[in-house]
Amino acid sequence: MSTTTATPEKPVTVQALPRMGQLDFLRLMAQGFRGNFAPLHEAVKKYPQGIETRIVRQRCILMNEPAGIEELLVRNQRCYHRRTRSTPLKVFTGESVLTLSGEPHLRQRKLIQPAFHKSRIDAYADTMATLGEQCAARWRDGDTFDMHEQLTALTARIITKTMFSSDIEDDVRIVGEAIDTCLSRSGRYVVPAVGKMLDLLPLRSTRLIKHSLGELDAVIYRFIRDHRRAGGDLDDLLSMLIAARYDDGSALTDRQLRDESMTLFLAGHETTASALSWTLYLLTQHADVAERLRAEVDHVLQGGRSPKLDDMQALDYTRRVFTESMRMFPPVCGVDREAVTPNTVLGMDIRVGDLLIVTPLVTHYDPRWYPEPERFDPDRWLPERAESVPKHAYIPFGGGARRCIGERFAWMEGILLLAIFARDWTFELAPDARIQARLNITLRPSNGVRVIARRRPMKAT
Ligand code: HEM
Repeated sequence: MSTTTATPEKPVTVQALPRMGQLDFLRLMAQGFRGNFAPLHEAVKKYPQGIETRIVRQRCILMNEPAGIEELLVRNQRCYHRRTRSTPLKVFTGESVLTLSGEPHLRQRKLIQPAFHKSRIDAYADTMATLGEQCAARWRDGDTFDMHEQLTALTARIITKTMFSSDIEDDVRIVGEAIDTCLSRSGRYVVPAVGKMLDLLPLRSTRLIKHSLGELDAVIYRFIRDHRRAGGDLDDLLSMLIAARYDDGSALTDRQLRDESMTLFLAGHETTASALSWTLYLLTQHADVAERLRAEVDHVLQGGRSPKLDDMQALDYTRRVFTESMRMFPPVCGVDREAVTPNTVLGMDIRVGDLLIVTPLVTHYDPRWYPEPERFDPDRWLPERAESVPKHAYIPFGGGARRCIGERFAWMEGILLLAIFARDWTFELAPDARIQARLNITLRPSNGVRVIARRRPMKAT
C-alpha cells in the first residue's frame, strides 16, 4: 500500500488498500455481529485507512479514511445505490425513503424532508418531555428493572404520539411488540434467498413475523383512514406525509403512507432506545461522569422543573455524554453502498458493482482522532478538542443525501430524556445484569440493561 498524508493542498490518496482474505474478513464481521468488537478495533489500528477484500465475486472495500467516507457518502453519492438486495428492513418497510435509491430516493426524500423541518421537530419537545416524565414517575426507589425494555416502550410511545397523535396504550403495545418481533428476526433476510425460503416453511418464527406484520398493517392503515377522515393538520408526522405533494402535484398513496410510516417507526424507535440504554449503562460505570451530568441538570433545571426545548443549549455536558456514548456504541453500525457508476475514492478506481462499507464501530475507534478510544470521555467533545476530529470520523447518523432524516428528533429525545432521568434518579447495575452487545440491525444490549433505580433526595429550592 502506498499512501500520502492530507494537507490542505494535497488530498489523501491511496493507490490500493491492504487486502484481507475473504474468510478472515467474514470472520471479522461475524465476530462483530456477535458483539466481539475487539478484533475490529485492532483492525483499525493495523489498517487505519481501510481494507479491500472479495465476498464471493464482489470486490468489497471497508472504508475508514474520513476523506474517503466523505467522497462515498457526500461528493460521489450519485454514483452509489443503497444495497437494497440485502437490506433486511425492506421486507417490513417496502418501498420507502430508507430503501429507495437514485432519483426515486431523492424524489421521496424531497417530499418527506419538510416533515422533519426544525420547527416541526422542535414542536415535539413537550410531548417527549411529558412522556419521559410519566415513565420516570412510575419507578419506585429501589426498583430493579430492565432499562432497555423501559426505553423501548417509552420511545415507542413517543413515536406513536408524534407520528399518529395517538397515546392509546394498546396501539403503542401492539406496535412496539410487533416491531420488536420483526427486528429481532430480521437476520434471516440478510441473505434474501434464505429469508424467502424460511418464509415458506411452517416455522414458529415465520408465523410470528407474519402475525406481527399483519398487526402493524392493521394499526397503521387504521391511523391513515382516521387521519384522512379527520382532514386538516393534526400536528403530527402522518398529517405532514398526507399533505405532502410531489412536484407534479400527486400525493402519497395509502400503500406509500404505510411504507413511510413503518419506516419511521422502525428507524426512529429502536435506535434512540438503544442509544439511551448504552448511555445509561455507561453512566453506571463512570460515577464521575454521572455526577457531573447531575450537577449540570440540577443547575439548568432549577427547582426540579421539566426540561424544555430552550434548555437544550444549556444542557451542554448532557449533549457531550450522549455524543460520546454514540461514539462508543453507535446504534446503527454500518452503511453500505454499491457502485452504479465508475468513480474514484481516495484516487482508487471504483468499478460498477463494487461494494463499499463504512462502519462507525471501526471509524469511531480510530486512535488518530480518538486518543485512548476505549475510554468513555465526554470531554473529548469540548469544542477545542473536537475540532481536531474530521467531520466524517464521527458518523452515527451517516452522511450526505442519506444522512439520518430523524437526527434532530433523536438528539432532542436523547438529551431531554437523559436530563429528566438524571434530575430524579441514579442507577446502578443490578447484580444479575449481563451486558452483551449484539448487532441486529441496531446495536442493542441483547440481555437488556438491568438496573436498580435510586431516587435522588429532593433539593431545597
Ligand atoms: C440515535 C438515533 C438514530 C440513529 C443513530 C440513526 C442513524 C441513522 C443512519 C446511520 C442512517 C443512514 C443510513 C444510510 O446512510 O444508509 C439513518 C437513516 C434514516 N433514519 Fe435514522 N437514526 C436515528 C434516529 C432516527 C429517528 C428518530 C428517525 C425518525 C423519526 C430516523 C429516521 C431515519 C430515516 C427515515 C432514514 C433514511 C434516510 C434516507 O435514506 O434518506 N432515524 N439513520
